[in-house]
Amino acid sequence: MNVLPQPQQVTLLEGTTTLVSPLRVFAWEWQDEVAAWAEDLAKSTRIDVEFVDIDEADIVFSLASDIDGYRLVIDGAVHILCSWSDGVTQALTTLRQLGPVELYSAEQLPISSFDVPNCEVSDWPAFGWRGAHLDVARHFWDVETVKRYVDLLVMHKLNILHLHLNDDQGWRVEIPNWPKLTSVGAWRDGSPIGHEDDDRRDTVRHGGFYTREELEDISAYCARRGVSVVPEIDLPGHAQAVLAAYPGLGNNPEVTLEVWQHWGISDHVLNVSTEALDFAVEVVSYVASIFPNATVHIGGDECPTTEWEASEHAKAVMEQHGFESAQQLQGLFTSKLCEVLEESGHQVIAWDEVLDAEVPETTVIAAWRSVEKAIEAVDRGHYVVMMPMQYVYFDWLSSEDPSEPIAVHPAPFVTTWEKTYSFEVTPPELNSLQRRQILGAQAQLWTEYITTRDRMDYMAYPRLSAFSEVVWGTQEELSAFRPRLVSHLERLRAAGVKFRPLDSGE
Ligand code: ACM
Repeated sequence: MNVLPQPQQVTLLEGTTTLVSPLRVFAWEWQDEVAAWAEDLAKSTRIDVEFVDIDEADIVFSLASDIDGYRLVIDGAVHILCSWSDGVTQALTTLRQLGPVELYSAEQLPISSFDVPNCEVSDWPAFGWRGAHLDVARHFWDVETVKRYVDLLVMHKLNILHLHLNDDQGWRVEIPNWPKLTSVGAWRDGSPIGHEDDDRRDTVRHGGFYTREELEDISAYCARRGVSVVPEIDLPGHAQAVLAAYPGLGNNPEVTLEVWQHWGISDHVLNVSTEALDFAVEVVSYVASIFPNATVHIGGDECPTTEWEASEHAKAVMEQHGFESAQQLQGLFTSKLCEVLEESGHQVIAWDEVLDAEVPETTVIAAWRSVEKAIEAVDRGHYVVMMPMQYVYFDWLSSEDPSEPIAVHPAPFVTTWEKTYSFEVTPPELNSLQRRQILGAQAQLWTEYITTRDRMDYMAYPRLSAFSEVVWGTQEELSAFRPRLVSHLERLRAAGVKFRPLDSGE
């Protein structure tokens, strides 16, 4: 039996159970989650689901309030116990993996029944935050591609989709009072050819953006599959696309900026006026309103202070607040955004650079620069999601093989799938109380060098498969994991995923 991520406890029983369409399901109050699973299964097979009374059902869900995760018993029928909807999706994901790989076929196959091994599975995630990020700013991905990305997260029991919705190279959400964010800020007139360091550019216009309705559609699609969207608006740095649209929000309003055609970190950041703060509050609040109850990411990484240091206005604001370094100005954005978002019921997360200025203790820290940053955040009382780039940045090279496709950094900045699998989510330096401040981990997929779906697949898989087991908490010896990964990749192959072969470059 091969389920990935590996369940916490499995007992194999004698024999198999054959499930025949229409699957007769008693779903208690979880019909919507089951229906979403059935819709996905029906893309690969001719298997339908019918909701029936408990005594006619082949698949029976029961509420068991003491179960965190799910319990799945297959013994001629299928019994699933769980206490909340996440467990429903997790159990059904396991059930689908217990069937043949054809259940993941990208094309609908004439399959109307399948066998699953009789077994008892007790399973739960070690961490509540099992995230995958997608950069839709450097390259824009349509709704269908985002949903396909989500389908693959669901296959791996990952439960957070972090959408990076703006950057220097593009703004990706329609905002009612700020039309130029999308009419201007969503489009750039060229992109680097090869690596940014080669300093060559094409003249191909690239861009796109999501309407509110499209984001609501993505959010609903995710919710039915046990995935929460974490939208990110990254300010006050990474703002060149904003400033191309609204130069008055910048530090040199007289200078005309274009939506950036380079990769890297633009020096052009928001100014520190009341207007710029109000802008940040308005757009972030608007985006938050599209995702009620969501955790909202306010960015905050890589904000150069060169423009603030040269600005008389910024210097006056520093004096007014008694700041000694320009970096502290970023804290004005962090504090204000946290206050407003929390008032409207949103938890806030931000990249770890926000620790370098004032940041409310309630802000969750996305620790990406190093494990040390995570420890610093924990010491300062924050909850933390672990994202150290050395392990979980999948825009890094997959190996040192010179035939690897172009990546953000040259060797030796390499993250093999084996290295990802060796990642320890909880830093061993933390004591048992501090460990509770680690909410989980998240993998990042920055898309400067990812221009096609196939390349997205190649960079994400199999590293994301390895990551999923790490964050589920059932990591084992690499030698035991590898054969399971090999057979799991057959599911991805069936699904049409152009993953990187385990042992070679492209
Ligand atoms: C980041 O990778 N700049 C958060």
